[in-house]
Amino acid sequence: MKILITGASSGLGRAISLHYSKPNTTLYLLARRNELLLEVAKQAREKGAIVYIYSVDVSDFDALANITKEIALKEDSLDMIIANAGVSVGHNHNGHTKFSDFKRVIDINFLSIHALLENLLPLLKSGSKVVLISSLASIITMPSSIAYSSSKRALNAYAQGLRVLLKKDNIYLINILPGFIVSPMTDKNSFNMPFLMNTEDGVTRIIKAIEKNKKCYAFPKRFFILIKIISFLPIKVRDDLILKYSVK
Ligand SMILES: NC(=O)c1ccc[n+]([C@@H]2O[C@H](COP(=O)([O-])OP(=O)(O)OC[C@H]3O[C@@H](n4cnc5c(N)ncnc54)[C@H](OP(=O)(O)O)[C@@H]3O)[C@@H](O)[C@H]2O)c1
Repeated sequence: MKILITGASSGLGRAISLHYSKPNTTLYLLARRNELLLEVAKQAREKGAIVYIYSVDVSDFDALANITKEIALKEDSLDMIIANAGVSVGHNHNGHTKFSDFKRVIDINFLSIHALLENLLPLLKSGSKVVLISSLASIITMPSSIAYSSSKRALNAYAQGLRVLLKKDNIYLINILPGFIVSPMTDKNSFNMPFLMNTEDGVTRIIKAIEKNKKCYAFPKRFFILIKIISFLPIKVRDDLILKYSVK
């Protein structure tokens, strides 16, 4: 197995990388923090994997293209690409996100996905998988995290089209929409996170969805259903409800 994972230095990406660390597996691990990538690589190699690490900011699209071109020269195929790297800007209580922060979120959570895949899609063969890590936050938008929800909703739109495009070559597109999972990202949240899952539980569910080639997997189920119901409410009712439960 040859697998590329972005955001492999911490949280979900780190746990997913270690899950796939086995003999006969080559891992390409990307993130910015080299020292953390080195730690993950050390553990992954101890488990028998061959590991290459790339310290890169995925929103530096030229640097990312150089890496993906280098990988495309080295490998003639990839079995799986897991686009997991993501950020959320601090929940802005005053309502407005600075343009530079907004752009950063869109670049990292959304545009970097196409920048990553552009040179790598030709390496995918029948049975290969592209896994995109979206979020339940893509379904309804809280006023405190407009940039994050926008980036993830754009990602869902991208996933929808790319799934159909890849289907003719029998390549699976798996879009994952997690609820709250314990990670350095959620550790920063000071508000109550409904249905919060521990990292192991969250990552196990993601891995199972990948194994089953789920087209779209939103979890935990009860939180997903609740969010779906809210999304179908009349706009005024929904807006009032969202305002009531917004981060103050
Ligand atoms: N945890 C949750 O509750 C939850 C829920 C729904 C969706 N998600 C999504 O799951 C993914 C992983 O999040 P997480 O919870 O594991 O958060 P995390 O612990 O903060 O991990 C984020 C990962 O993305 C990498 N990353 C961030 N910005 C990057 C950049 N510009 N260039 C390269 N790598 C970058 C980070 O590495 P460096 O900092 O070293 O670059 C880190 O490895 C994200 O896409 C997030 O939106 C998380």
